[in-house]
Amino acid sequence: MEKIGDSLCRYKDHVFITDILKVEHIDSLQSFEIRDSDVFLVTYPKSGTIWMQNIILLICESDSTDETQFLNNPEKMPWLEYPSEHSDYSSQASPRFFVSHLTPALMPPGLKDKKAKIVYVARNPKDVAVSFFHFSHVLTKVGTPKHFEEFLQQYLAGDVYGSLWFDHIREWHTHRDEYNILFLTYEDMIMDLRSAVEKTSRFLGRDLDEAAISRVVEKATFKNMRKDPKANYEFLPTEILQGKFMRKGTVGDWKNTFTVAQNEMFDRIYQEKMKDLPLKFIWDIN
Ligand code: PPS
Repeated sequence: MEKIGDSLCRYKDHVFITDILKVEHIDSLQSFEIRDSDVFLVTYPKSGTIWMQNIILLICESDSTDETQFLNNPEKMPWLEYPSEHSDYSSQASPRFFVSHLTPALMPPGLKDKKAKIVYVARNPKDVAVSFFHFSHVLTKVGTPKHFEEFLQQYLAGDVYGSLWFDHIREWHTHRDEYNILFLTYEDMIMDLRSAVEKTSRFLGRDLDEAAISRVVEKATFKNMRKDPKANYEFLPTEILQGKFMRKGTVGDWKNTFTVAQNEMFDRIYQEKMKDLPLKFIWDIN
């Protein structure tokens, strides 16, 4: 295990938050028993994870039991790599829901049976960088960079939790045919939330009528979700979170932070690293 700064460490080529990493748990994922009904949400950090987590749970809400209706979203859909002391996933009722920032190599191999479902959400890496930078000042468990330039260097070196954005997107995109996966982008969700909800609901095999789709869309807007105490992560204790998880929720905010030189450097790296991947990101919608 390699230490990265005071709060992070690299294990099996992936960067974790040291305080909450349990290596035995990460190793145990290689024999984690997958059920056909399992639903996984996989993202690189700051790509719309809690947004899609909320959407998936709203879509599948009809399956919730009375016992789960008072739980907040991560209690219903926990982080695969950071289980709580009380999580015993094997005795959990189906369908089970998990969120993860892991790469394919660290995920349970049973997912390759292509029965359990994976929703992957990607976001343009400049907005991810800015969102991540701000989040580093809010999340107490990761180091706080002094300025954006310092963070950008760490981000481009993959020395941030979740590792390198370029590796994450490449790994999941090139291995996508090995999984039962729906690929969406944060920008698609911003531009047409209804269509993203419909696609997700079809993929999850839930036959929601127009009115039910409208209810999910309404609850998942930035404005409404920010007020939803089960979804907005304001329930996290101040020892962990000192500020808002839901910050701006826009496309193109990077323009308010990147300097011209940082942008040119980023574009050069992006072109080099992404040249053989058939992916196009939306950088601004205005
Ligand atoms: S984390 O820490 O990895 O789980 O963060 P993640 O949830 O992936 O990303 C947080 C960003 O997603 C934005 N967000 C939303 N945008 C639009 N609509 C809704 N409903 C929504 N919910 C979360 C959140 O504001 C973060 O982006 P920024 O750019 O920082 O605002």
